[in-house]
Amino acid sequence: MNRQITLAARPIGLPNESDFRLVESEIPTPGPGEVLVRTLYLSLDPYMRGRMSERKSYAPPVQIGDVMVGGTVGRVEQSNDPNFQPGDIVVGNTGWQDYAVVKARDLHKLAPSVAPITTALGVLGHIGLTAYFGLIDICHPIAGETVVVSGAAGAVGSVAGQIAKILGCRVIGIAGTDAKVKYLVEELGFDGAFNYKTTSDYGAKIKELCPKGVDVYFDNVGGAITDAVLFNLALHARVSVCGQSSLYNLEKPEMGPRFLPLLIVYRAKIEGFLVSDYAPRFGEGLRQLAIWFGEGKLRYEETIEDGLENAPRAFIGMLQGRNIGKQLVRVSS
Ligand SMILES: NC(=O)c1ccc[n+]([C@@H]2O[C@H](COP(=O)([O-])OP(=O)(O)OC[C@H]3O[C@@H](n4cnc5c(N)ncnc54)[C@H](OP(=O)(O)O)[C@@H]3O)[C@@H](O)[C@H]2O)c1
Repeated sequence: MNRQITLAARPIGLPNESDFRLVESEIPTPGPGEVLVRTLYLSLDPYMRGRMSERKSYAPPVQIGDVMVGGTVGRVEQSNDPNFQPGDIVVGNTGWQDYAVVKARDLHKLAPSVAPITTALGVLGHIGLTAYFGLIDICHPIAGETVVVSGAAGAVGSVAGQIAKILGCRVIGIAGTDAKVKYLVEELGFDGAFNYKTTSDYGAKIKELCPKGVDVYFDNVGGAITDAVLFNLALHARVSVCGQSSLYNLEKPEMGPRFLPLLIVYRAKIEGFLVSDYAPRFGEGLRQLAIWFGEGKLRYEETIEDGLENAPRAFIGMLQGRNIGKQLVRVSS
């Protein structure tokens, strides 16, 4: 049988496990040009919270009763396409389920000898690409500049901060536990970091850690953290709006200080982006990430939950910051 996790209800605030349902169905059979894939690892990502809601977004919501969407690494079980053979390891978007039938053109084959297969859902996949284009293409960081990363110990943030270090920048991270702060400074070589949950005055802390101001801000979280960074920009600062994790579970929008006048004061630029906009340049990004990875300059951490049935719990935990690095579910070994 095929176990699937479907959306049972639209969450109010932080999702509950009861917003998901585990259902069973027959294992599907691939048609012409299709491939049956067995999921090995499922990627859990904050964007999935948006798909659970009917709020206007850049992608349509998951409908009640539909299988939750998600990126996966899996193994080909049956193939009706000459480019895939049983046993091939592939990356695709097969969702929260044990098995899926997919069009062959929607799968990419992985070479397990080159890098651990889970990196295709992290540092050598959409996560690495998000950090790469969101930092380099939008912020153009220059060696010696001060770069601040929020959500810094998460999947995207930890890669963005390391890329900024590779480019010779001074990097300050913001994260939600002392263990994450220690990880950023001691393991990833950040120049400074602070725990926003034990810091009362974010602005004063940023001023202390960035005495010349913030040249580049890679924003994963929004909210009060971002407000504080924006009030400490340097002249000609660049801000990349990657995500707004602190807002995803809010039922009513929060009002922050009006910051637009600061853009005049600092002649600053703020730009949001979607990694999918960069699809034509993914080859360039993946080549560079693979080079840095091969040189040992990009490290990565994973938080792995075992069992598809535990995906809802792991997802809720990730939204609350229980992960360091990339949150994954091991669906099958
Ligand atoms: N634009 C794009 O194309 C694109 C692509 C991928 C991801 N993203 C966005 O990038 C961001 C990071 O994604 P990710 O996959 O790397 O997730 P992640 O950072 O690994 O996980 C989410 C993290 O958000 C932090 N968080 C939760 N609530 C928070 C709050 N109230 N204030 C501050 N931090 C909070 C938690 O860390 P703490 O312990 O530090 O609180 C948690 O670990 C997300 O906002 C995501 O939507 C955007």
